[in-house]
Amino acid sequence: MDQEPPIIAVSSGKGGVGKTNIAVNLAYALCGNGTRVLLVDGDLGLANVDVLLGLSVERTIRDVLEEAAEPLDSVVYPAENLAILPASSGVPEMAALEPEQQTKLGEFILELSRHFDCVILDTAAGIGSSVVWFNTFARQNLVVLTPDPASLTDAYALIKVLNRHHERKDFRVVLNLAAGDEEAARVFETLARAAQQFLGLELNYLGFIPRDPAVPAAVRKQAPFLLESPEGKASRAVRALAQRLLTGRP
Ligand SMILES: Nc1ncnc2c1ncn2[C@@H]1O[C@H](COP(=O)(O)OP(=O)(O)OP(=O)(O)O)[C@@H](O)[C@H]1O
Ligand SMILES: [Mg+2]
Repeated sequence: MDQEPPIIAVSSGKGGVGKTNIAVNLAYALCGNGTRVLLVDGDLGLANVDVLLGLSVERTIRDVLEEAAEPLDSVVYPAENLAILPASSGVPEMAALEPEQQTKLGEFILELSRHFDCVILDTAAGIGSSVVWFNTFARQNLVVLTPDPASLTDAYALIKVLNRHHERKDFRVVLNLAAGDEEAARVFETLARAAQQFLGLELNYLGFIPRDPAVPAAVRKQAPFLLESPEGKASRAVRALAQRLLTGRP
């Protein structure tokens, strides 16, 4: 059997915490180092990755599931070493895939993954069936939250569902929109204590990304902030996260 690359799901309980920005910019940080990255837009009902990058998309995951599209023909390449498998937008039935479609999508992504060194799955928010499926399909679970208390309780709820109902145990946590490392560490500790006390889980802290005006500015330009503002604080933080992801250091 071919060696399988790491498959990492980027998820959150609460929406709008920065998953897509983190997934996209992590992908750019990794591919900039020569890692061949496949980024899958797993927000199947409301695609975002193509919008964030201003890509024009011909085929989406919907075509993959409804037609027998060739894996490598279904991706777009916005940069060297970076392939994106786009999702369709405004298609409600895509947000909750049937089990057969999940199996088909899983086989498709696995087949594609042979051409890459790393696969990143950007999911929708919440604990809906597609989100849970992407998280159980992935080999690594990266959970994003912010200092907003609702995002903390929702991140805990996501981790709880994945642990209690799907036996997931290894979670890496990224704090986004933190004022600084002290606030980020404090929020992580609150989540980690709850996971330890009520689920018996040791969460891994991957790091934090500070609030940075370069992020919304890049979003408006439909470009990754890593390229628009390479020395900005969010870019430096994302490069550090990418490094830790690659080295496997928790
Ligand atoms: N570190 C940051 N600094 C400043 N703004 C940020 C940061 N991270 C994200 N944002 C802003 O937050 C908004 C939401 O980001 P994003 O779309 O990546 O979130 P999401 O979790 O993928 O949302 P959804 O749940 O809808 O998929 C974006 O408009 C972005 O500009
Ligand atoms: Mg998103």
